[in-house]
Amino acid sequence: MPAFTATAPGKIILFGEHAVVYGQPAIAVPVNQVQARATVTPNLWGAPGEVVIQAPEIGLMAVLDELGADDPLGAAVRGVMGALQVPRIPACTLKVSATIPFASGMGSGAAVSVAMIRALAGFLGQPIDDGTVCALAFEVEKIHHGTPSGIDNSVVTYRVPVFFQKGLPLETFSIGKAFTLVIGDTGVRSPTRETVAAVRARWQADPAGYERLFAAIGSITRTARDAIRGGYPTRLGPLMDENHALLQMMGVSSEELDNLVRGAKSAGAWGAKLSGGGCGGNMVASCDPQRALEVQGALEKAGAVRTILTQVGARPDDDPTGGQPGDLGPQL
Ligand code: MEV
Repeated sequence: MPAFTATAPGKIILFGEHAVVYGQPAIAVPVNQVQARATVTPNLWGAPGEVVIQAPEIGLMAVLDELGADDPLGAAVRGVMGALQVPRIPACTLKVSATIPFASGMGSGAAVSVAMIRALAGFLGQPIDDGTVCALAFEVEKIHHGTPSGIDNSVVTYRVPVFFQKGLPLETFSIGKAFTLVIGDTGVRSPTRETVAAVRARWQADPAGYERLFAAIGSITRTARDAIRGGYPTRLGPLMDENHALLQMMGVSSEELDNLVRGAKSAGAWGAKLSGGGCGGNMVASCDPQRALEVQGALEKAGAVRTILTQVGARPDDDPTGGQPGDLGPQL
């Protein structure tokens, strides 16, 4: 059995995080400049059925049978075994790595799951369809996040911009005019499970107030989809600013995120907002491509530990940011 490798991209949420957990729509795009990678190699001298899992970045080196049901990596492997009805895997080593920062709102958990699921299914000679990959990764997301909406595993599995609403078929949309995003990382790790739980507690304390916030975010997200489809990316700026203000009201921004948002705006970004769970992690700004380097510099000055420039909807050859082929969602 030959070795098998699979990769999966990171993601950024443009509009609708948190509100999406409560049934509102959200928009997310893949970010291929960062990736998770999983490689399965046969262990010719391994004990029959022994699956060794190595994830050096999180200090994990374990045998599958030692991992409890609540371990996300173990759950991804068991999910594939269940879906393919393979009770025993030939002895192998599954090595996982990622350039996606952990606990930063860029979908590292979902990307690791998707890469692992595809690598293992490929190694077993039974590649599985995207719908099954997405469903298996969603089960692992429940371990990561508690009550995930499903947007992370969807955008990472399908690698296209998505308009996601829980319980409805996944929608993608055409990009009327390519646009530039600059992503800034506060360097503050913030597990999504915690921010989602904090918002849930506040929603339980003030359901009417929070439903109003979620509905306002839902309406911004729908307007943003129309602007993207219609080819009016400059209109995204004020919508991002409004979405950020609503997330601040929800209590999921932080001083570091607000500093980066202000920095991006002062360098001429059309708009900027936190992205993902918040309370740390990443923010995203939209801007004129000619301004992207200035915005990037301003983010670094305002404390970003890392910045990523990406384009949504451009062909790789047209990407002035030098993105690698395949790192832009196709126009659909
Ligand atoms: C996490 O990337 C986005 C959240 O809305 C949680 C979720 O949708 O599962 C905060």
